[in-house]
Amino acid sequence: MNPAPEVAGSSAETARGFAGRVLITGVSGRLGRYAWRAAGARDWTVEGWCSPRWSPGTPGDHNHPWQPVDLAQVADLAALFDRAQPTHVLHLAALSTVAGCLAQPELATQVNVQASRELARLSRQAGARFLLASTDLVFSGDHAPCRPEDLPAPRQVYGRSKWQAEQAVLAEGGDVAVARLALLFGPSLGGGRAWFDQQLQALTTPGAPLPLFVDEWRTPLDYATATHGLLDLLSTDCGGGIWHLGGPERLSRWEMGTRLARQLACSSARLAPVPRAEIAAPEPRPADVSLDSSRWRSAFPHSPWPRYEEALAQLLPPATRGATHSPRPLA
Ligand SMILES: NC(=O)c1ccc[n+]([C@@H]2O[C@H](COP(=O)([O-])OP(=O)(O)OC[C@H]3O[C@@H](n4cnc5c(N)ncnc54)[C@H](OP(=O)(O)O)[C@@H]3O)[C@@H](O)[C@H]2O)c1
Repeated sequence: MNPAPEVAGSSAETARGFAGRVLITGVSGRLGRYAWRAAGARDWTVEGWCSPRWSPGTPGDHNHPWQPVDLAQVADLAALFDRAQPTHVLHLAALSTVAGCLAQPELATQVNVQASRELARLSRQAGARFLLASTDLVFSGDHAPCRPEDLPAPRQVYGRSKWQAEQAVLAEGGDVAVARLALLFGPSLGGGRAWFDQQLQALTTPGAPLPLFVDEWRTPLDYATATHGLLDLLSTDCGGGIWHLGGPERLSRWEMGTRLARQLACSSARLAPVPRAEIAAPEPRPADVSLDSSRWRSAFPHSPWPRYEEALAQLLPPATRGATHSPRPLA
């Protein structure tokens, strides 16, 4: 496949000499689109599995068709995996929202747990390295900063399903690793409407105030940096087990919103600071799931790790500041 020239590659030592055949699941998702492009920029041989909502033969970004695969059909995965013949698997696909998992807990178990277990089993049988994307929401939020060795205690169906997935894939054995990702930010490449896109819109168009919690904390990481981290973990001999990929700063949603407003040179008048207690939630929300990412940073000290505003400056070109439309991402 042809590389996507606009995406920066990663460290030279990683780019050189990697001759694997990579399967990325969830390429039509938010993180998946960044991963697909970054893998192309590294000139990797990549097979992309996309959402079953896509038509067969849908081209990926590089005229390389993505394969629609329904991970809920676990029995179909072995034949599809055999056809792809990967040496490395980056498993990003998931029922990825807290609300979606609460609404469909059985589907969350099928997609997030059972399909992950099956892909890890198939990877072990094929001798392929398997990397599962998990989440900071496996933690209760009561004991930050959260280290890889800390015991998860998820409070929501989503976090429970991801923790069960972690345990299932690690129990399969083989060359398997889990990357717990912090809250990811950056413009959606596929025109989606994630929280970051909502903040951008709230800041650049008139409308009702957007409430942002002042007392709920994460260590946000931008999509491009998360992607580089995942591709490094996948393609190097850095070891298995659990890795935490979070950003360098602990921030509340309110702090993220006001920093974005500053970056865009916009008024933050449409952002409303609110305490968590003021907004009822159907499931308990963890207060602070900040990640301790020191294992990752020690293993890859030279890979990018921008602070929130540095990442925003890279993601949002100067021409978009003060603009009323969604900016074009640089990476
Ligand atoms: N974004 C974050 O802040 C964040 C933080 C921590 C961890 N993560 C993890 O990172 C990974 C990627 O997240 P994301 O933000 O990119 O989520 P996303 O945009 O929802 O991407 C997930 C992808 O999986 C696909 N999918 C869902 N059900 C499927 C099924 N039955 N068969 C095949 N594909 C299916 C989705 O398709 P549809 O679009 O059709 O639903 C989507 O393309 C997930 O594992 C998530 O748990 C994300």
